[in-house]
Amino acid sequence: TPGVRPLIAGNWKMHGLRADGLALARAVAEGARGLDAELVVCPPATLIAAVAEALAGTPVAVGGQDCHAREKGPHTGDISAPMLADAGARYVIVGHSERRAGHGETDAMVRAKAAAAFAAGLVPIVCVGESEAERLAGQAEAVVTRQLAGSLPEGFAARGGVVAYEPVWAIGTGRTPTEADIAAMHGAIRAHLARTAPEGAGVRLLYGGSVKPGNARAILAQPDVDGALVGGASLVAADFLAIAAAA
Ligand code: G3P
Repeated sequence: TPGVRPLIAGNWKMHGLRADGLALARAVAEGARGLDAELVVCPPATLIAAVAEALAGTPVAVGGQDCHAREKGPHTGDISAPMLADAGARYVIVGHSERRAGHGETDAMVRAKAAAAFAAGLVPIVCVGESEAERLAGQAEAVVTRQLAGSLPEGFAARGGVVAYEPVWAIGTGRTPTEADIAAMHGAIRAHLARTAPEGAGVRLLYGGSVKPGNARAILAQPDVDGALVGGASLVAADFLAIAAAA
């Protein structure tokens, strides 16, 4: 999107003990200088503070992988958006399909989490994406549009929120939609956002699902693809940096 700085975010998921995580973060920061893209790493919650400290003064930002919708309270095991911000995060992924599927998160819950992120001064990266059955049934755009309508809080575009389109069947599988399908979906997402708010034209739209150094350039060249949300390849600094260099 013209005038929009690309964003490459790494979702480490449930990977990373302290030594490996810090080494990975440092290697990413080392290679990040001079890249046009903005870089974010999202380590497991146990490493956010340490990684944020290690990355202080570098161009690489830190994000969480989820947050609770409330600021504090009796929610054993949960982490609030203010806690993430306090630990040094600037972004937070919400509504990842692994949380929608594995933790029963609904659009309404995702929307509340994204609102909590904004309230804490974080940038939410809201994930949407269809299942393989939904795509085969010709429902992909309808499903994603419905998820957007339910998951994005008031003022999402104006407040700088980010959307990540991750087709569930492309995550961790090595399969990706065709370039034309990615362009079509991102166009549909852009159209929905632009209908909803004037600022929708400038929202950063990331593609996620089996992004690798070998396919990054072609995917990132598609219209309305403003960056990538990278899983497996973000665990190898050289691969993550190669993807960022393709942006
Ligand atoms: O959030 C990123 C993710 O779900 C994509 O994972 O391993 O297919 O790049 P991967």
